[in-house]
Amino acid sequence: MLNVDQITKVYQSGERSLKVLHDISFSIPQGQMCAIVGPSGSGKTTLLGLCAGLDTPTSGDVYINNRRLTGLSEDQLSALRNELVGFVFQSFQLIPTLTAIENVMVPLELRGERGADKMAAELLTRVGLADRLDHYPAQLSGGEQQRVAIARAFINRPVLMFADEPTGNLDSDTSESIVELLFELNRDAGTTLVMVTHDLELAARTHRVIRLRSGHILSDELTENAPVAQQAAQKPSESTDTNPTAGSQTDDASQTSSAPSAEEETIVDDAPSDSTVSREQTV
Ligand SMILES: Nc1ncnc2c1ncn2[C@@H]1O[C@H](COP(=O)(O)OP(=O)(O)O)[C@@H](O)[C@H]1O
Ligand SMILES: [Mg+2]
Repeated sequence: MLNVDQITKVYQSGERSLKVLHDISFSIPQGQMCAIVGPSGSGKTTLLGLCAGLDTPTSGDVYINNRRLTGLSEDQLSALRNELVGFVFQSFQLIPTLTAIENVMVPLELRGERGADKMAAELLTRVGLADRLDHYPAQLSGGEQQRVAIARAFINRPVLMFADEPTGNLDSDTSESIVELLFELNRDAGTTLVMVTHDLELAARTHRVIRLRSGHILSDELTENAPVAQQAAQKPSESTDTNPTAGSQTDDASQTSSAPSAEEETIVDDAPSDSTVSREQTV
């Protein structure tokens, strides 16, 4: 589904160049829910943007459904994104001159699909914003804007969803309803989910946790929630088009997902990590 093959990213600022990602490789099979964790500045947002084709790597390749993103024109890329990819940005990126419902409708309208308004209203209801449809972003709280952004990412029924700290701005109840929505999409539609989070409890509820530090993969491990098929298919590389070095990220056997390193800002949420948490906010 998603193959990342030895990508690096170097940012140029003035005279200086800053390498923020070093030789990153991994493959994510269809239907997997993967969390990317790591300290602030470790390259998580950069990596997510490269995976989604929003930005191009300095070297290396990204493949979605075996299509190499780096070879595509800007038009081809945006067509592919529109067809397959949903993205929830850390900074929401709502259009300030459009209302909540209009923001959510944008991806479907770009595709020329009908019924965008009905679907947008349904999704906004599902994220608890039924009475905010006609509010502009400036009239919404941070958490409400995040929920609009999430509804927008869902509307084109993406097969591959990226979310950059989707619960970072939300209180724990709202956060749980957003997480349920993401997990539900994975369960019901088989959507592949790649999520950056600071919340290690949330990360542990996915199938796989990739830890980044200073632009390197520190560990890459399946959790106990990973379906047996994923356990069997894992390692060193399940894809046909990655190179033989792709398995090198798991060489540090001392790192396990149950032993979070101290510098990660763990937000220990008060919600339990199993399914007994409240669901009434989601449908
Ligand atoms: N457009 C940019 N130009 C220069 N440096 C950048 C740019 N975007 C991010 N960086 C730097 O790259 C590093 C990784 O950033 P980022 O991917 O946002 O990390 P994270 O999401 O893990 O906090 C940081 O040191 C950041 O300052
Ligand atoms: Mg970030």
